[in-house]
Amino acid sequence: MASAQQLIGLVKSHAEGNSERFFDLAMQLAASEEQKGHRTLAEQLRQWAEAGKQPDGALARSVPTPIVAPRGELSDLIKASYPSNKLNDLILPESLHSQLAAIVKESRLAARLEESGLKPRRHLLLAGPPGTGKTLSASAIAGELKYPLYTVLLHGLISKFMGETAQKLRLVFDAIVNHRGIYLFDEIDALAGARTSSNDVGEARRVLNSFLQFLDEKSGGSIVVATTNLPQILDHAILRRFDVVLRYELPSEPAIEATFLRRLSGFDVDSVDWKLVIRKAHGLSTSDVVLAAEDAARSAVLSDHRNILTSDLLPAIESRYSLQRIGADIGTKSSQTPLAPRSRKKSQVSSKKGARKNTKRRTR
Ligand SMILES: Nc1ncnc2c1ncn2[C@@H]1O[C@H](COP(=O)(O)OP(=O)(O)OP(=O)(O)O)[C@@H](O)[C@H]1O
Ligand SMILES: [Mg+2]
Repeated sequence: MASAQQLIGLVKSHAEGNSERFFDLAMQLAASEEQKGHRTLAEQLRQWAEAGKQPDGALARSVPTPIVAPRGELSDLIKASYPSNKLNDLILPESLHSQLAAIVKESRLAARLEESGLKPRRHLLLAGPPGTGKTLSASAIAGELKYPLYTVLLHGLISKFMGETAQKLRLVFDAIVNHRGIYLFDEIDALAGARTSSNDVGEARRVLNSFLQFLDEKSGGSIVVATTNLPQILDHAILRRFDVVLRYELPSEPAIEATFLRRLSGFDVDSVDWKLVIRKAHGLSTSDVVLAAEDAARSAVLSDHRNILTSDLLPAIESRYSLQRIGADIGTKSSQTPLAPRSRKKSQVSSKKGARKNTKRRTR
């Protein structure tokens, strides 16, 4: 018979949704039953443990953290959701992808780390140009861990009344400790960069100091994800407080291609001059590439065709550039300089989707 400790460990790891630990313990149990000569039982235990490792296996389903609807004052400060996104939805350089996967793994196996006096990294800063997948990454981390995503509404947080912002921040950080989830401080520069703007310097400093202090506190099992387009205006004291700073870039050429193919999966794209299209799309964000693909797909569908032509994609790309230019004109009127697009290496891209299918064809 299995020992009481083994049984408790098994049930506990299942209750905690810790499938890795559950698997390890089930395999240990199988080994000890085999030693006792219970070969059939050992084999059955192994088979069920292996089945639980399969994505669709009953044992692999980890327990989602129940969503806690923010109430009272907190409801103006936090929006709750339960994203189903996964890391594989992101098209990112392999290095970024594996860093995100490591963060997810550390939280999944937090108990194992803690047994060795280590902690999972739970304060992340994602920095990079607009439309490169920062918010989507936070949502994918939540989806992978089956944690709720709590988006902190910064406009609700920043108050024109002295001292109120820090009090509201306190409420948010109390929720971080008490309700496990991914807490997304999107476009953190609004808060952390407040010191450089012309409004009340005393209040801005107080807010910044409270934020720093709160970041130093324990976050329970929650992960705090902050994003910014403007890392250069962030205070160094803030940057130091994050366990990981991930730099997002505009997509490389392979990433542009992967994004088009993924968004146009289900359409016939065999006649597209990809070299030309990718060259023209160089400089667009991943979000713009998705939108250009959707524009092209819309016009193909409306003209009752399922095959996409180069001539559908090029105007769609051009219209994304026009919008970017309008955005840039507005941007120059603001005092903030957007993060300069950096040189883009042809990096290996992690993308697991994107099929090509045939339906009705056009000849051009
Ligand atoms: N790396 C990516 N992989 C896959 N899709 C992406 C990626 N980046 C952007 N997208 C697409 O663009 C949309 C917007 O991306 P997202 O909101 O994550 O960008 P962001 O970096 O947070 O931008 P911003 O700085 O403007 O907030 C996503 O919902 C997705 O459709
Ligand atoms: Mg965003």
